[in-house]
Amino acid sequence: MDDSSAIVFLSTFDPIDAANLSAIRFALMSLEMDSALLVPLPSREGETKLKDRCRMVEAAIEDMRHLSSLEREEIKGCDNLSELLLKAWAATDSSSVYLMVDPLDIPRLLEEKIPDDVLAKFKGLIVVSSKIQPEIPNLGRLPIQILYNSDMETHDPAGIRQLSHLDTALPVIDYILDKHLYAIDDLRDLYTRQRYEHAVSVAHLAWQMAQENGQDSCRAFLAGLLHDCAKELAHTDEGKELMQKHFPQFANFPSWSYHQFLGALVAHERFHVRDEEVLEAIFYHTTGFGEMNALDKIIYCADKLDPERGWDSQPFIDLCLQDIDAGFKAELKHNMEYIDQKNPDETKDPLTAACMERYLREE
Ligand SMILES: [Fe+2]
Ligand SMILES: [Fe+2]
Repeated sequence: MDDSSAIVFLSTFDPIDAANLSAIRFALMSLEMDSALLVPLPSREGETKLKDRCRMVEAAIEDMRHLSSLEREEIKGCDNLSELLLKAWAATDSSSVYLMVDPLDIPRLLEEKIPDDVLAKFKGLIVVSSKIQPEIPNLGRLPIQILYNSDMETHDPAGIRQLSHLDTALPVIDYILDKHLYAIDDLRDLYTRQRYEHAVSVAHLAWQMAQENGQDSCRAFLAGLLHDCAKELAHTDEGKELMQKHFPQFANFPSWSYHQFLGALVAHERFHVRDEEVLEAIFYHTTGFGEMNALDKIIYCADKLDPERGWDSQPFIDLCLQDIDAGFKAELKHNMEYIDQKNPDETKDPLTAACMERYLREE
């Protein structure tokens, strides 16, 4: 044991999210501690397998100095939380160890009635919260230290599970997609295989464009992943009825555009997306419109420039990565020229027309 200080951060991590990551970094920095050990709690009924939760934690902290996680085998070997706490405490090999818990997991810790001699190994209990005075019950006699971080993302792992948002690290999202965790199979059911691959590819491109342009990349990924989710629905009678019912003002639009409106509806109804910007980006992704923000432009471009489409879109992608406003104008112009060449006599729908009027006027 050396004289370093460490935090043991206990949470379900189902999955580890952006708020967990900010909380632990914030705690290390504010308390000037040396390192942190992340410890996923053993699975209870209905929770994701421990193996998957451990892998996601490992993926999330891979490139982060000072952060490590307790091995799955170590966690599995514990009969109860007291044993787990002792094992984690010993694994830090530090003389000064604090326990940090996710506020969502406090009821579970209270239920387990951890004996005072186990808690006494720790110097205190750290809770990071975005609320000024959160109500945190006492855990034995452990002194509680509440750290207030107003900039923290909303902590809502359940939202990631239902795909209403994806506020976590990219390697975690990739793991969720790869293993079909949470609502991924519900989403795949809506896509043909090829279109799902397109959606995943658009999501990655959108992530990159957002990151390079100082925008929220988790949001961009979600909008990209969901953007075509109503493509099949749009061809059905149900799709046409939904158009009449929810979007009568767009029902006389060309039928290829239906899926953008219905896509936002499906994202809202089926995946409970409440982020207006994500919904808007899906809603206008094929036609564009006259008032596009950076995310709208990113989704429009990532969709059209998806490398899987089989043409050399790299020069346009490069421009979008450099400057999404310039890249969007270039791609819009290019796309309109392509459409005019294909269907010289087609009149533009009012949204496409407004988009061209607004963004190509000065060209
Ligand atoms: Fe589309
Ligand atoms: Fe698409």
